[in-house]
Amino acid sequence: MNEIEKLISGKTLTHDEYVKLINRYEDENIRETLMVRARQLRGMHYGNKVYIRGLIEFTNYCRNGCFYCGINSSCKTAKRYRLTKDEILECCMSGYDLGFRTFVLQGGEDPYFTDDILVDIISKIKEDYPDCAVTLSIGERSYESYKRLKGAGADRYLLRHEAANGEYYKMLHPDNMSLENRKQCLFHLKELGFQVGAGFMVGTPGQTVEHLADDLEFLKELEPHMIGIGPFIPHHDTVFGNESAGSVSLTLYLLAILRILFPKVLLPATTALGTAALDGRERGMLAGANVVMPNLSPLSHRKDYALYDNKISTGDEAAECIDGLRKSMEKIGYKVVVDRGDYTG
Ligand code: 5AD
Repeated sequence: MNEIEKLISGKTLTHDEYVKLINRYEDENIRETLMVRARQLRGMHYGNKVYIRGLIEFTNYCRNGCFYCGINSSCKTAKRYRLTKDEILECCMSGYDLGFRTFVLQGGEDPYFTDDILVDIISKIKEDYPDCAVTLSIGERSYESYKRLKGAGADRYLLRHEAANGEYYKMLHPDNMSLENRKQCLFHLKELGFQVGAGFMVGTPGQTVEHLADDLEFLKELEPHMIGIGPFIPHHDTVFGNESAGSVSLTLYLLAILRILFPKVLLPATTALGTAALDGRERGMLAGANVVMPNLSPLSHRKDYALYDNKISTGDEAAECIDGLRKSMEKIGYKVVVDRGDYTG
């Protein structure tokens, strides 16, 4: 049995088999075979439903210096902002009216947002919208902190592992960050009962097929409920400002592989994918994705949450243009639903 047959039959691959599998991504026939299988599995578990999440980017202050990211602490050009509790609640209010039943609070690692402040915000959202899920995406914190956030009612947590190969993780991050800590956080979040999301970028500078194989192997070990991947896109004010962007077709190929490896996983067609290609989100869906995360942040700050250059934040990407998204999904046979969109375990 070769690696393609092995993948399709639902078996776990060895490191070398993952490498071979990824290396075949330019073969049209193989691509098509995997996409078809990915769509079939997505259909079996989620039908033609597309789950939406309202993304509230509530702070772009960050204490970390990740080399790829446009809001990292050494970016001088980033115009920093924080939303107030009331501003966050206003985002939820308009999001609820638009049909969102999950709010994702995403931000840099901003020490201003202490556990007390976050607990207050999360509790209020859960009190006002008991039928909604709250997802946090606020980086590495202590076990105790995660425990308090869970206790306040947070349901899910997104923390991309970024790179599961230790050496390569170091090429993307400053010395004060470590893969060990990142992994520890992910396992803590799982232990505490969060629905957990991990993930990585495709095509960061120096990334090899072996590194990607390590990512797939790590995900198999973690068994997350959600996996976020998107192409790397350079930001001019970072160390990687002059590097080239990651490949859209390799990202799509990896999305299909992830759907096959994790048939029930919640898999977004990410903003980065939608930025790298005009029809990125639709192609993501056709590769096995089942989630989109439109931007619900206040218009006045949207441009400032610039993780990479030209990040889309208006048009069909934006929450207020959800009708456009609905139509574009209908065109390819999918349906945006009003639903929390939980992992069905
Ligand atoms: N290109 C693409 N994705 C990026 N992210 C951060 N910077 C970039 C970039 N330049 C991703 C990281 C992070 C997520 C919120 O955005 O993977 O976890």
